[in-house]
Amino acid sequence: MNDPAAMRRSYLRGQLDENAVSRTWLDQLSGWYADATADPAVIEATAMQVATVDAAGRPSVRTVLVKAMDERGVVFYTNYGSAKGRDLAAKPYAAAVLVWPPLERQVRLSGAVSRVDRADTEAYFASRPRGSQLGAWASPQSTVVASRGVLEDAARVIEERFAGRDIPAPPNWGGYRLVPDVVEFWQGRADRLHDRIRYRLDDDTWVIERLAP
Ligand SMILES: Cc1cc2nc3c(=O)[nH]c(=O)nc-3n(C[C@H](O)[C@H](O)[C@H](O)COP(=O)(O)O)c2cc1C
Repeated sequence: MNDPAAMRRSYLRGQLDENAVSRTWLDQLSGWYADATADPAVIEATAMQVATVDAAGRPSVRTVLVKAMDERGVVFYTNYGSAKGRDLAAKPYAAAVLVWPPLERQVRLSGAVSRVDRADTEAYFASRPRGSQLGAWASPQSTVVASRGVLEDAARVIEERFAGRDIPAPPNWGGYRLVPDVVEFWQGRADRLHDRIRYRLDDDTWVIERLAP
């Protein structure tokens, strides 16, 4: 095994200047997202890790895919009855990170989380492949299942139930919007003197400031 302590890379690909970043976190994120999608070395540019806490304050983190981003926040879709759904019902806040190692970049967001409008969920669900739609119905996400066969049987039952017609979004499935009040952009630099630029909502004003790496 390679000794993790001996793994070392220099980050030299870019830089970030508080006087040159976009005026809004959304413009900055959109620009970096465009760079990520344009780089063939980034294979899942929308992958975002989302951390939640349960009612007792115990954190969990998992990957989801970002499906929308605008001035209101970033949206992902999931099962509302999942572990993350239960966490968010009890504590409607999350922290998230997108990391694009080939670009030596990370974006962190944190803030309140709310469900997206049902119409948005239905529109997005309708755009998904039919197989994914069946899967959403068949999977009681985050519960213990006896076997894979149980899930496949459930998918077959759903397929028969909706044979020949459109599959609606399951009632317990939908989008969450993370509405950030802090967004931080990290660009790797030489000698571990990385650039960190944070957008922080202070009352109604976004403050842009540099953080020590
Ligand atoms: C690349 C990748 C993308 C994923 N995208 C989603 C997603 O968009 N929505 C989702 O519910 N789970 C997604 N998952 C699965 C989650 O990471 C997680 O296993 C699942 O949501 C259950 O999490 P929970 O038990 O903490 O609620 C993805 C996993 C990976 C590795």
